Amino acid sequence: MKVNYLNFTEQWKEEKKRLLPVLLEVLGSGQYVGVRGKEISKFEKKVSKDCGMKYAVSLNSGTDALTFALHSVGVKKGDEVITPANSYVASTSSIVHLGGKPVFADVLPDQNINPKEIERKITKKTKAIMPVHLTGRSCKMDEIIKISKKYKIPVVEDCAQAFGSRYKNKPCGSWGEIGCFSTHPLKNLNGMGDGGFVVTNNFKAAEKIRKARNHGLKNRDEMEFFGFVSRMDNIQAAILNFRLSRIHNIIRKRRVNADYYIKRLNKKYVYFPQEKKHEFNTYHTFVIQVPHRDKLKSYLKNHNISTYIHYPIPIHKQKPIQRMNLKEQSLPVTELQSKQILSLPIHHNLKRHHLDHVIKTINNFFQNE
Ligand SMILES: Cc1ncc(COP(=O)(O)O)c(C=O)c1O
Repeated sequence: MKVNYLNFTEQWKEEKKRLLPVLLEVLGSGQYVGVRGKEISKFEKKVSKDCGMKYAVSLNSGTDALTFALHSVGVKKGDEVITPANSYVASTSSIVHLGGKPVFADVLPDQNINPKEIERKITKKTKAIMPVHLTGRSCKMDEIIKISKKYKIPVVEDCAQAFGSRYKNKPCGSWGEIGCFSTHPLKNLNGMGDGGFVVTNNFKAAEKIRKARNHGLKNRDEMEFFGFVSRMDNIQAAILNFRLSRIHNIIRKRRVNADYYIKRLNKKYVYFPQEKKHEFNTYHTFVIQVPHRDKLKSYLKNHNISTYIHYPIPIHKQKPIQRMNLKEQSLPVTELQSKQILSLPIHHNLKRHHLDHVIKTINNFFQNE
């Protein structure tokens, strides 16, 4: 039996009949990259509401969402931004693109940034705090917001992996100044190409990002500043609108799969941070922490089970960061986790027998170790 990590083709098969007419309508409309297209407005309205924020601005990627958000809270050359090193490289790229300096804070056993480490790393140069809600689990946002208020430093949330996730019943993306999302095909709310968006209650920030995504134009012909090209395509917006109507079902299925794993994986060998009562995790990934991780990964591969590592090289160990000659960063928890983490298949098309195969193979591996 084969267990795939990804399910793009299955997703297309199950959606094709209803999604194809939606795509054909956009193709026939002649409106492909309008910033005020029907599908774009519908998408922005819906996601701002889902995130409990006044404004949403659709963009070309989650990376642009982060870069524009940091820019709009004033991050510029030489400013420090506190963030974890165990994220996708894009979190840190957005800081570096603005001339900022990433300051890495270590993480908790649940892989999310440790609020105490954030406070310890604050200096006069700290211009923003960027927590990353990794794996679809929210960071400890109440504690982070307390620090943000105490030091008057804005929070830009990296919610690329956390659409629909909540902490103390408040959506990820609604805690800080700006929430940044990705709609890359790998995300729970996924397009068929690149995409992303920001949500905020700050009208000025939303307007600035709206202009920045379209050459800095304030109307068809007049520029306010030199901007970028970061518009979401109408066709992506149409796909996302279609998928927004099903996202709760997809999240529910991922949660059911996670629960199935949690109840059956042998806890003597396999560690996974339990979901707390005040969390609502959307399981963008289901990550276990295990000894002999690489050996287990190969063993699973030999049993036709595909897994990933998110992420094997923490960002502070990546070459471009090392070339920046930042102060030596000691991140023992991040580094240990990078050797122990393994993402198991969790997508909504998995059947019980797939999950049983994964569970049995992992438990057998450790019994025989
Ligand atoms: C945590 C995190 N931040 C940022 C991004 C960047 O998003 P995108 O690929 O849409 O630019 C991703 C996507 O992979 C991500 O997982």
